[in-house]
Amino acid sequence: MTAAANELKPVLVFDSGIGGLTVLREARVLMPERGFIYIADDAGFPYGSWEEAALKERIVDLFAKLLAQYDPEVCIIACNTAFTLAGAALRAAFPQMTFVGTVPAIKPAAERTRSGLVSVLATPGTVKRAYTRDLIQSFATQCHVRLVGSQDLARLAEAYIRGDVVSDEAVMTEIEQCFVEMDGRKTDIVVLACTHYPFMANIFRRLAPWPVDWLDPAEAIARRARSLVPQVADAVHPDDFDFAVFTSGAPDFPTRRLMQGFGLRA
Ligand code: DGL
Repeated sequence: MTAAANELKPVLVFDSGIGGLTVLREARVLMPERGFIYIADDAGFPYGSWEEAALKERIVDLFAKLLAQYDPEVCIIACNTAFTLAGAALRAAFPQMTFVGTVPAIKPAAERTRSGLVSVLATPGTVKRAYTRDLIQSFATQCHVRLVGSQDLARLAEAYIRGDVVSDEAVMTEIEQCFVEMDGRKTDIVVLACTHYPFMANIFRRLAPWPVDWLDPAEAIARRARSLVPQVADAVHPDDFDFAVFTSGAPDFPTRRLMQGFGLRA
């Protein structure tokens, strides 16, 4: 099949803020022929501290509008906090749409760890989800998994990526619980279970009391999306298509500049 690129439906990438950009950059590499729409529900940010029923309702209502407006080929929910809560509800509400989810990478971590000590760094919402507990039950019962719910790290990542100074102490307070020593063994993998966190991985590495593998699932999510999006021979990326939408309707200047840096109009 051959098609002019501008006939192809776009890929929609969704997060509460800028964290989904860590997934968007990988998805672009694998789907260069597709246009991208980035949705940040910044009016609802941070998702990590929402009450579950209210957040689920908000996300499903928002998608009713987004799907009607943008008619995407696939939606990548580039947010653990959103997908572990509302993934099933989205699929039930919009059965004709393909949703690619983001969940804590507990399975790959359990397969790779040599010490058997794995930590999962996430928002307080993701840490308390039944979905996350089920992943541990299904794939990691042989490991010691420490769940670390961070109150502030998503906000710090937003500030950092916009160019604000973030203190080492503030970051260390959020990540120090990830480092466990037990019976002469040490944590060797920390799962980055919030899409905001890979933006700070260089700081995490510098502050870590010992080296660990910081597991970022962005590439795996992009590969999954690619496998579900039809390849179209000869298609090229539509000119000047990609854009970002903020539910607040009013991204500030550093945010718009950031979006431009990612090749998105905002
Ligand atoms: N980026 C989101 C995630 O992957 C959460 C950030 C927030 O608290 O809104 O979980």
